[in-house]
Amino acid sequence: MAGTTPHETTISGRRVRATRAESPPDDAAPIAELRDEATGCRRCPLWRNATQTVFGEGPEDAEVIFVGEQPGDQEDRAGKPFVGPAGRMLNATLEDADVDRRKVYVTNAVKHFKFEPRGKRRIHSKPNAGEVQACRWWLDKEIGRIRPRLAVALGSTAAQSLIGRAVPVLKRRGEVIERNDGLRVFITIHPSLILRMREEEDKEAERERFLKDMRKVKQLMAG
Ligand code: URA
Repeated sequence: MAGTTPHETTISGRRVRATRAESPPDDAAPIAELRDEATGCRRCPLWRNATQTVFGEGPEDAEVIFVGEQPGDQEDRAGKPFVGPAGRMLNATLEDADVDRRKVYVTNAVKHFKFEPRGKRRIHSKPNAGEVQACRWWLDKEIGRIRPRLAVALGSTAAQSLIGRAVPVLKRRGEVIERNDGLRVFITIHPSLILRMREEEDKEAERERFLKDMRKVKQLMAG
């Protein structure tokens, strides 16, 4: 199948019944323990300029894990993922799609804010492949503990981390890629793409497409 790598087994847009182990393996550390450990993470240099590690949040038995790129300015200060404008867009869309937030764990591919200082402002800078790879250590541990039925890759950095290679998100959006370990990964855009659109009409259209994707996520959670 086009684009298939040894990292993934099947690719589909159809509904597949999810399998999930009843409980995490005995050696899977609780999220609180992982969060504590990650506060001192030095796996890549991004910790130097960031305020703190921003670990994932949500129930330990979440059905779905949403993975973003990295914390933004507000998340870096608050120490919590998706509390800024992109998080508000995500939350509002999940509510419109009737996705139960209590079943959702949110995290990022990279757990420190990478930025360029510009005057008093801190401008988001995309993490590189090495930084994504280094931080995958934590994402794997979160997934190992939570054992979600589904992962949602919000944008290309998340898709790269979850799938293990670059994924053309706009082309593959709305598809499910099943990994060798059985985890289904739903591909969609990052909500900040909507926020960056200048024309109100484009923004509205993109928001509608994102809502459609979140409705699919809801179906997949039930499937
Ligand atoms: N963008 C992300 O990818 N993650 C956050 O936590 C905030 C903004």
